[in-house]
Amino acid sequence: MCGIVGILGKSSVATDLVDALRRLEYRGYDSAGIATVESDHLERRRAEGKLKNLEKRLLSEPLAGRTGIGHTRWATHGRPTERNAHPHMTAEVSVVHNGIIENFRELRADLEKKGHVFDTDTDTEAVVHLISHHMQQGLSPVEAVRAALGELQGAFALGIIFAGHDDLMIAARQGSPLAIGHGSGEMYLGSDAIALAPFTDSITYLDEGDWAVMHRSGVEIYDRAGNRVDRPMVKSVASSLLVDKGNHRHFMAKEIHEQPEVISHTLANYIDMAAGQVRFPDLGIDLAKVSRLTISACGTAYYAGLVGKYWIEQFARVPVEIDIASELRYREAPLPEGGLAVFVSQSGETADTLATLRYCKAGGQRIASIVNVRTSTIARESHAALPTLAGPEIGVASTKAFTCQLSVLACLALALGRARGTISEAKEQEMVKALMEVPRHISSIIRNEQQFVAIAQELSKARDVLYLGRGTSYPIALEGALKLKEISYIHAEGYAAGELKHGPIALIDENVPVIVVAPEDALFEKTVSNMQEVAARGGKIILISDAPADKVSCSLAAHIEMPTSVSFTTPLLYAVPTQLLAYHTAVVMGTDVDQPRNLAKSVTVE
Ligand code: M6R
Repeated sequence: MCGIVGILGKSSVATDLVDALRRLEYRGYDSAGIATVESDHLERRRAEGKLKNLEKRLLSEPLAGRTGIGHTRWATHGRPTERNAHPHMTAEVSVVHNGIIENFRELRADLEKKGHVFDTDTDTEAVVHLISHHMQQGLSPVEAVRAALGELQGAFALGIIFAGHDDLMIAARQGSPLAIGHGSGEMYLGSDAIALAPFTDSITYLDEGDWAVMHRSGVEIYDRAGNRVDRPMVKSVASSLLVDKGNHRHFMAKEIHEQPEVISHTLANYIDMAAGQVRFPDLGIDLAKVSRLTISACGTAYYAGLVGKYWIEQFARVPVEIDIASELRYREAPLPEGGLAVFVSQSGETADTLATLRYCKAGGQRIASIVNVRTSTIARESHAALPTLAGPEIGVASTKAFTCQLSVLACLALALGRARGTISEAKEQEMVKALMEVPRHISSIIRNEQQFVAIAQELSKARDVLYLGRGTSYPIALEGALKLKEISYIHAEGYAAGELKHGPIALIDENVPVIVVAPEDALFEKTVSNMQEVAARGGKIILISDAPADKVSCSLAAHIEMPTSVSFTTPLLYAVPTQLLAYHTAVVMGTDVDQPRNLAKSVTVE
C-alpha cells in the first residue's frame, strides 16, 4: 500500500510534500518521510508513526530543495521503524515505493556480493542499490532506471530522484497506481489525483508497465518495451479541499451521519424518481440474457456483494457466484461464456480486486464495477463503472461506502429482474418506493444514537462478541463483526444463525454478548429459536429488530428498536446500528477510531 508523492517545484517543496502526504495517509500511517535534492547531494527526514511526527521533525530540522519525493508507509517488509521508513537512499539516488518487490532477496544477495551495504529490512532498498549500482557502472540516471526496471519483479509504483540532478524525477508503474500532475513550470507525482489536488487538476495516469522521465518543462512516457508513448491528460475532479470532520469527533462518526444524504444521491443516480423506476446505465450486455453473474470484492465491499447475491438470486432469479477477490482467481474458477462480472470497491485500487477483475476480463467476462473513486484503476479498467456517490470516505472503517454499495446493488437486482421479467412493473415501483424511504429510516435510527452509548459500555468489557443473522441479515452480521474488531480490537465473529448449533454455540457463556440482527421478516421465527438456544446457555442477547419485545420469549440484555420497513431494504437499515455499536465501543475503549492499528484505507498489495 503506502502513498507516494513527488514535486519538481520552483521553490522549496518540503511543505507541499507534507501537504500532499496528508491526503495519502489513508494508504498507510506506519511512518512518513521526504527527501530532496540539495545542490549536489540528497537529504531526507523520516519519522516513525503518523505524519504529524514528521512535521514535528521538520520544524526542528527543516529541509531545503526544489525537487523532492515523499512517502507515507503501510509496512510490508520490515517493522514500522524510522530505519525502515522511506525514502530510501544511497549517495546517488533516493526512492519512494508503493508495492512489493518479489525478487528483492535475490537482488539484495547479488548486490551485497558486489559490495553494497544495506541499512534496512525493506524490499525497496534493493531498488535503490540496483539503480545506484548501474550508475556506478557509468549509466546515466535514465539508463540506470531503465536497466533496473527490467530486473524488478512484483508490483510497484516508484518515485526516484538523483543527487546533482535538480530538474529530473523518474516515475514507474507496474501494478500500483500512479498519476502525474502538470503545473506551470512545475511537475507533480502522486499515488492518486487527490494528493495533487491543491497543485493541479491536469493529470496523466500511467498505464501498466509505463515509466516516465519528468522535468519541470514536461514529461516523456515510455511503455514496458521502452517505446515512447502518449497518455492523455485529463481534468481531475478530485477536490482540493481536505475533507474535515465538521462537528464530529471522528471521520467515522461524520460518515455514519452522512448516510441518509449520500444514499439519496446514490439512489437518485440509478432511479427515475418521477416514474418510480430504476434507470440503470447500459452495461453493454443484454441483462435479459445474463445466465450467471460473478461478484468479487474484499472486506466490507465483499459483504455488500454478498447481500447483492441474495437480492439478485431472489428477485432476478440469476445464479450468482461470489468469492473474496484473493481467492476467486487463484482457485481458477471457471467463468461462464459471455458472463457478467461485478466488482465492488470503495477505493477502486484494492490489489486483489483489481487482479481478479483482470482475471475475469481475460476470461471474456463483461466487467462492471461499483466504485466510489471514479478515477480509480478499477473504474478505468471496467467496461462500465457504476459510481457510488458517497463522497470521500476517510475513516478506515467503511460505513457510508458500504450502504451506498448496497444501494447500487439493490438497483442492479431490480434492473436485472425487470429485464428478465421476474419482477413486474408494479413490483418494481413498490420496491423503488421502499428504497426511497431508506434515508428517512436511517435518519430516525441515527436520531436515537444515545442508546448505543450505554450498550457500548457493556460491549467494551467483552473479550469475544458474536453476531448472528439469517438471509440478508447474515452478511450484515459478518459486516457488524468486522466493524467491531477492526476499530475496537475486540474479537468478534459473524455467523449464519442456523449454523450456531454446528459449533459456535460452544463459545456461549454469560460473558459473551450475542448481537442478533433479526428484522421481523419471513425468517424471524427461525432466528428467534436460535436466540432461545443462546439464552438457554446464559448468552447476553442484544437484539436489533423492528419486532416488539413481546414477540421474543427470552430475556434480552438490550433491544435496539428499528423502524418498520419492507424486508428488501433491511440490510441498508440494519447496517447502521452495527456501525454505531462498533463506533461507540471503540470510543469507550479509546482506540484510534479513524486510523486503527495495522490497517490502511486502501490495500494496494496482495
Ligand atoms: O477500497 P475497497 O472497498 O476495495 O476496500 C476493501 C476492504 O479493504 C475494506 O472494505 C476493508 O475491509 C475496510 N477496512 C472495512 O471497514
